[in-house]
Amino acid sequence: MSATLEKIGQAMDTKELAVLKVDTLGKSGSFTAILKGMKDLSAEDRPVIGKLVNEARDKLERVFLSNEQRLHILEVNETLKNNQQDVSIDKKIQMGSLHPLHIVKQRIIKFFVGLGFWVEDSPEIESEYYNFTALNVPADHPARDMQDTFWLSNHLLLRSQTSNGQIRTMEQKKPPLKMLSPGRVYRADEIDATHSPCFHQIEGLVVDKNITMCDLKGVLEAFAKEFFGAQTKIRFRPSYFPFTEPSVEVDASCFACGGNGCRICKGTGYIEVLGAGMVNKKVLQNCGIDDTVYSGFAFGMGLERLTNILYQIGDMRALFDNDVRFLRQFQ
Ligand code: PHE
Repeated sequence: MSATLEKIGQAMDTKELAVLKVDTLGKSGSFTAILKGMKDLSAEDRPVIGKLVNEARDKLERVFLSNEQRLHILEVNETLKNNQQDVSIDKKIQMGSLHPLHIVKQRIIKFFVGLGFWVEDSPEIESEYYNFTALNVPADHPARDMQDTFWLSNHLLLRSQTSNGQIRTMEQKKPPLKMLSPGRVYRADEIDATHSPCFHQIEGLVVDKNITMCDLKGVLEAFAKEFFGAQTKIRFRPSYFPFTEPSVEVDASCFACGGNGCRICKGTGYIEVLGAGMVNKKVLQNCGIDDTVYSGFAFGMGLERLTNILYQIGDMRALFDNDVRFLRQFQ
């Protein structure tokens, strides 16, 4: 017995221990032979010896079990040590990067949120009411032709501008309003260097008491300085949008040449940035806002346009091709 216990303690691994266990407690094991010999004992001896033998078997089993566990832990640790892998470095994996459109969108949103604007989501599949009628573009209005629209049915369309977000916000919330409506818009244009049937706009809307064109100019000038640099100046040119009156086209002085004229601003010293204006009274009325108490301004900018200007990307298609060699430059 003591020789067996010694062997158990000396076993080098679980395999050796298992063999020893079979040799001891197995069917033809040495200890099993003792158990079998019990039947030859006298009736007096059997209970005394039987008790001792049972105790010895229990002890053997306990010692086998504790040694099995001990060796198993050693073996697991050994395996872990020998199969270690450094998962922290793998030069083959390329880190992804944010898409340039996303970078520019986040920059714009961050600026306006800093001024107290909040972001509203509005549907891309829209009714003609929100995309046109409520924005003062009735069915027979020639301005519907300014935007080649994808019609889905008689009254449903893919929105051609994010201005639908203005109407939905003015319908749902009471002034003061200060919101941004970013998202995809669709127009039936052929794809070329400056056109895509799907592109992105960011719309802005402010409605409150005493909002004037000075507020519009101040906000957009601050934006242009943030976006293009502190030296940037802006100018308003008269324009026309059915949902704003008066309407303006906003230019920023060229960030590359400072206004002297260069390749980026095509020699004009200015870059066209966005469309804007004072919310047309008819639009306020359509949304149930009292236009004798409230006034507002709105603006809308094309994200692809601003991204192309900022990063000097010559062809808008680069923004949609998802060529990793192009995207990697924005890491
Ligand atoms: N929705 C106009 C466009 O798509 C942009 C705009 C928005 C102009 C808000 C004025 C006010 O061209």
